[in-house]
Amino acid sequence: TKKITNICCIGAGYVGGPTMAVIAQKCPHIKVTVVDLNEQRIADWNNADLDKLPIYEPGLADVVAEARGRNLFFSTDVDKAIDEAEMIFISVNTPTKTYGVGKGMAADLKYIELCARQIARVSKDDKIIVEKSTLPVRTAEALRTILTSTGNGVKFEILSSPEFLAEGTAVQDLMNPDRFLIGGEQTESGEAAVQALVDIYLNWVPRENIVTTRVWSSELSKLTANAFLAQRVSSINAISALCEKTGADVDEIARAIGKDSRIGAKFLKSSVGFGGSCFQKDILNLVYLCQHFNLPEVADYWAQVVKMNDYQKHRFAKNIIDSLFNTVSGKKIAFLGWAFKKDTNDTRETAALYVADELLQDRAEIHVYDPKVTEEQIFADLEYLQTHRVGQYVEQGEIMSMDEIRSLVTVHNDPYEAMASAHATAILTEWDEFKSYDWQKVYNDMLKPAFVFDGRNIVDKKQLSEIGFEVYNIGKGN
Ligand code: NAI
Repeated sequence: TKKITNICCIGAGYVGGPTMAVIAQKCPHIKVTVVDLNEQRIADWNNADLDKLPIYEPGLADVVAEARGRNLFFSTDVDKAIDEAEMIFISVNTPTKTYGVGKGMAADLKYIELCARQIARVSKDDKIIVEKSTLPVRTAEALRTILTSTGNGVKFEILSSPEFLAEGTAVQDLMNPDRFLIGGEQTESGEAAVQALVDIYLNWVPRENIVTTRVWSSELSKLTANAFLAQRVSSINAISALCEKTGADVDEIARAIGKDSRIGAKFLKSSVGFGGSCFQKDILNLVYLCQHFNLPEVADYWAQVVKMNDYQKHRFAKNIIDSLFNTVSGKKIAFLGWAFKKDTNDTRETAALYVADELLQDRAEIHVYDPKVTEEQIFADLEYLQTHRVGQYVEQGEIMSMDEIRSLVTVHNDPYEAMASAHATAILTEWDEFKSYDWQKVYNDMLKPAFVFDGRNIVDKKQLSEIGFEVYNIGKGN
């Protein structure tokens, strides 16, 4: 098969950026161009100061430093990159639809469709198109229809190669993937296209870690993987609620059941609830597909995973209000963490936002500290929620003006300032640095009784209780 020497990736986000940076680093013989419509994002990727890259991931700056300008390029000239590439990865966003048919459930494929139309219009020679974005099963069919609609004789092979990296460990996941997945057509040209992508991955991944399947299986594997992962979190969180009522300890249970090799130890950490751009969106998309194909029992089964997650976030917020004598109005609540998990600056669907919203509904004063998230981002998230009140508990809330929100929310660069004179501290993200704070100092500066609500079970409950804190964890009965 033909060796690929020029690839392009449409979408320079959390997936496109790190994925292409690693491909470029591992394949110096391939020219990799990452394009985006967002000029600021491309400018940030090109920033000489590597601390200013648009995405924070451990190890990413080093990879970019090595490859950028050598065979890795970031550009806003989408047409040129498409024209020159033999293989085009599509890694644009596929958010939940916020309007019309399938609102709040289906994946919004408008960005994907725009890419397909642009590729169809610009291409002058045969190309391999790789779906990197997470897509509903059978999207490749829609892509094919659009791509071949110009009738100009250009041949497109469509592959599905969904990305399984986790934010916070993206570079490590890309360097040593459990597997890369490629779905392709069972035709001669389809198999050749699969082989061309296998050959790229083979530059650093052993063949046995590259799984090849049919296109539909590959597309559906990504939704299934995220549904299973999220389901584990909701399962252990469901048990955490029972632990709190009965005196059992959810971390002990996780340790006990995790030893069973059929269950496995990973992803059994109970918390305030999962966040991130993918789990909820992909499950809702799966639920929508099941409804579409008239499988209501299957749809309901998976929908429950999201419901349980909403419940977990709500339970955490409600526990704060209940513990603070049934109102947080005018009380200062410090938030440690805003990102949806540690080691990322991504805040999409972060549990912190939903907990904040419930407390703001009761007119709490929230003081946020996060080591990587900007003040601008936090206010943007709060504003977004006001315009998209969808979800079990959120839709009951009243819409607040940004003036009101700004009068109640303060963002700090110093965690001790955020916690000084607070009635309560809530831990929303599991950043390592929170464990090593001088909790005696924090206690001295907080109002008494000083409450800590640990939504990630990361601080030492015994040590904090000895200092004098009232400590609430997830899933630990007394
Ligand atoms: P993102 O929102 O960070 O990046 C998408 C980028 O595509 C944006 O910068 C946007 O400006 C650009 N874009 C949209 N339409 C465009 C067009 N027509 N031409 C050029 N650029 C365009 O999204 P993210 O997180 O990278 O996700 C991308 C896809 O990957 C989604 O389908 C997501 O479900 C999937 N995914 C995400 C993972 C994650 O951890 N974030 C992990 C695995 C898959």
